[in-house]
Amino acid sequence: MNTSSPDPILRPEEFRRACARYATGVSVATVSSPAGAPEGLTVNSFTSVSLDPPLVLVCIAKTATAYSSFRAAKSFVINVLREDQIDLSQHFASSQSDRFQNIAWHSGVQGAPVLEGVLAVLECAIHSSFEAGDHTVFVGQAERAESHEGVPLLYYASAYRKLG
Ligand SMILES: Cc1cc2nc3c(=O)[nH]c(=O)nc-3n(C[C@H](O)[C@H](O)[C@H](O)COP(=O)(O)O)c2cc1C
Repeated sequence: MNTSSPDPILRPEEFRRACARYATGVSVATVSSPAGAPEGLTVNSFTSVSLDPPLVLVCIAKTATAYSSFRAAKSFVINVLREDQIDLSQHFASSQSDRFQNIAWHSGVQGAPVLEGVLAVLECAIHSSFEAGDHTVFVGQAERAESHEGVPLLYYASAYRKLG
């Protein structure tokens, strides 16, 4: 048992290093802007929250280009990436004016973009949101879901990983 008293000041790098020890999948969170343009960014903060009702959450940085669209939207989509979609993850994490150019996608039932060929899709109506530091947590109620055979892309210790 560790009986030492906790560090009074947690250094940011220690916090980041510990958080990075938690393995996650990789998704692209997409939304339609108020003008109807598709927007999206790579996220690994997606998690399921509740089964009944079916709720998920995603944390979006207040500095993200798509942030104001998430604030204004009534829905978002979580597109879960496959092992061979590192390029897609990097594409949606890099600064690029139109991230949807040359990307196969269609509008989901609530208008937010659904990426083609991903491992799973969750189309969500925004249930609630709350501010949390430099991010806002968006809770979504899943209204449509797709899942396909395949292997997920993982993210661990600040690097892409593969299962096995
Ligand atoms: C693996 C990975 C996971 C990420 N997870 C998140 C996340 O959960 N929330 C977030 O706001 N940004 C996350 N980002 C960063 C955004 O994808 C990136 O900052 C954003 O696309 C930059 O976009 P902007 O040019 O639109 O501001 C992640 C990036 C990577 C590579």
